[in-house]
Amino acid sequence: MRTFINVCRHLCLSTGSLMLLIAGLGFCLPSGASAQELMVSEQTFGCILGWPKVRNTRFKHSDPEKLKEAMRIFRDSVPDKEYPVGTILQLIPFEAMVKHPREKFPNTNGWEFFFLDVSKEGTRITERGEQVVNRSQGVTCLSCHQPAARFDFVCEKGHGCAPIPFDDQKIAEIQRSDLRCMKK
Ligand code: HEC
Repeated sequence: MRTFINVCRHLCLSTGSLMLLIAGLGFCLPSGASAQELMVSEQTFGCILGWPKVRNTRFKHSDPEKLKEAMRIFRDSVPDKEYPVGTILQLIPFEAMVKHPREKFPNTNGWEFFFLDVSKEGTRITERGEQVVNRSQGVTCLSCHQPAARFDFVCEKGHGCAPIPFDDQKIAEIQRSDLRCMKK
C-alpha cells in the first residue's frame, strides 16, 4: 500500500510538472511569436528632429541597446549585417523603412517601406509594404534600394543606389521644415 501511495505521489508530481511544462509552453509559444510581431501605426512616427541621427539619417528603436546597434551598423557601413528587428529609419520626413522579422517581407530581409503624409496634425500612412512607389519619382522604393542588398537595403552613400535628387544640405533643410515639429 505504501509503495502504491509512493508511486502515485511520484506520478502525480511528475504529471503535475508535465502539466506545468505544457501550460508554460502554451504561454510561451504564442507570446514569443507575438513579441516578434511589430505593430506600426501613425503614432510610431513623429517630428523627425526628435530622433537621433548619423549624418542625416534618423533612427528609432524602442530598445536603447538595439538603437545603438543600428546606429553603429549604419555609421560603420557594416556589410552582410542585418539591422535589429524594430529599427525605424527616416531620411526624408515622408519616407520611412521599418524592420520586421524577415519572414514577413522575405524580399527585403523584413523591411517595410512607408510613404507618409506629414502635416501639423501629425502623420498619415499613405502607403506601406514591400512594393511602395515613390510618388515623385514613379518607381518603387525597393528598385532603388535593391543594389544595397549587401548592406541590408540601406542606401546611405556608396552602397550602389541611384542617388536621390537632394544633397545633404537640402535634406537637412527638408528635415528642419518637418511640419510635425511645429505642432503646439
Ligand atoms: C531614386 C532612388 C530612390 C528611391 C526611389 C527611394 N530611395 Fe530611399 N534612398 C535612396 C538613396 C540614394 C538614399 C541615401 C541618400 C543619402 O544618404 O544621401 C536613400 C535613403 C533612404 C533612407 C535612409 C536609410 C538609407 O537607406 O540610407 C530611407 C529610410 C529611405 N531611403 C526610404 C525610402 C522609401 C520609403 C522610399 C519609397 C517611398 C524610397 N526610399 C525611395 C534612393 C532612393
